[in-house]
Amino acid sequence: MATAPTRAASPAALQLPLLAGHDLQVPLAGGELRPYVNLDYAASTPAMERVVDAVNAFLPWYASVHRGAGFPSQVSTRAHEAARHAIAGFVGARPSDHVVFVRNTTEALNLLASCLELAPGHVVLSTAVEHHANMLPWRRCAPVVALQPPPSPEALLEEVRAALEVSKRPVGVVSITGASNVTGEVFPIAEVARLAHEHGAKVVVDAAQLAPHRAIDMAASDVDCIALSGHKMYAPFGAGALVAPHAWLCDAEPMLAGGGAVSYVTLDDVSWAALPDRLEAGSPNVVGAVALATAATALQDVGLDRVAAHERELCAYLDERLRELPHVHPLRLWDGENVDRLGVCTFTVDGLDHALAAAVLSAEHGIGVRHGCFCAHPYIVHLLGIGDEESNRVRAALSRGEHHSIPGAVRASFGLGTTPEHIDRLVDALTEMTTQGPRLEYREDPETGDFTPVDDRRTFPAFDGLPDLDTTRTGVACGQF
Ligand code: ALA
Repeated sequence: MATAPTRAASPAALQLPLLAGHDLQVPLAGGELRPYVNLDYAASTPAMERVVDAVNAFLPWYASVHRGAGFPSQVSTRAHEAARHAIAGFVGARPSDHVVFVRNTTEALNLLASCLELAPGHVVLSTAVEHHANMLPWRRCAPVVALQPPPSPEALLEEVRAALEVSKRPVGVVSITGASNVTGEVFPIAEVARLAHEHGAKVVVDAAQLAPHRAIDMAASDVDCIALSGHKMYAPFGAGALVAPHAWLCDAEPMLAGGGAVSYVTLDDVSWAALPDRLEAGSPNVVGAVALATAATALQDVGLDRVAAHERELCAYLDERLRELPHVHPLRLWDGENVDRLGVCTFTVDGLDHALAAAVLSAEHGIGVRHGCFCAHPYIVHLLGIGDEESNRVRAALSRGEHHSIPGAVRASFGLGTTPEHIDRLVDALTEMTTQGPRLEYREDPETGDFTPVDDRRTFPAFDGLPDLDTTRTGVACGQF
């Protein structure tokens, strides 16, 4: 007799931090309410309640940062600087590193690419696994050599070594993800850093996915620079961080010019301020910085080992349960005992468009996932085995201004608030979908490729100050990109 899949313990049993919306009820297409199953942590995590409390406690003191004499301004300035220290501690930064607050990882890596001046002829070495934030900014800085998705961590290291040794042009920067946002594999960043440094290259880690799920120690792993986002680490208040060595940033021309970034301005000249102000022009987002720091501290208080253990158990449980479904195919880069994976599972469903599968999960089951390409087009193209011919067809249609649905997949991703019951609900929904098909009739929006039930009785909550959009549902794209 087959043994029943082992269920992981629930977050409550593990005393993990509570998240805002943990008891949210969402409407199904028929109007009835179901407890929401959030399986979209890799896109944006909910806020931790501790973060919300910290923000609420701080708001009465909120005032201008670095530019006010009033006591609340001093409080706010100190909070901003204290947040910097918290983030430096969270990532194991060295005294010679700076924490620069930005909006998110995309801005962090754009800022970094704008600051770095690679020696003439040098290239950036990266991979085709990266999401666009760790791909597009580098193209503005130097030629990029992107390694094809490697079949194993060992192969990755071999390919990095070979590229560093035999690249026709010297590698100035190796920029690599800490963990894939599409398939969840955790990358061997310390080993990549060792190889890069042996060949005189700098090492940048896109930690957008890694930071909320695994401990980071820049000093111990010898990683030079990291970028992370608050909205993926339980602090969705608009702040992220770039942590990089002083020497990389201190003479850089600021990407944003304006107040706060200067020490003196004349009508025809400017003296830029020292770091980090030089790179934080405009009034800083101190609320976001406080939120990000509180989330970082809370994750450290819980212990990232416990967070990782919780997610590994859930991952194993999901893998085991998905094996019950012959028509659901997880996409993986690496497999095997030695592979560490975050709680991210991207899959295709036989005979069902990814956008339709995601719409059914939402409208019929109250489950939120992301579908499409997850801002990682080259990687999805690789995982789905899409050839040049089809890729060129999509590009040609888009360049003619025609809509063309982009191939994609469905992604379930989880974190602190995920329970074994959530995984059971996903597997039950997929079982029904693949054996009986959708219960409802759906219409596709020709503009966006998104699906909505023909008879959709869901109504949207109203928020103070926001006008009722009164839009047709098809007017709001869910964003399959
Ligand atoms: N934020 C993007 C995601 O959903 C990259 O993974």
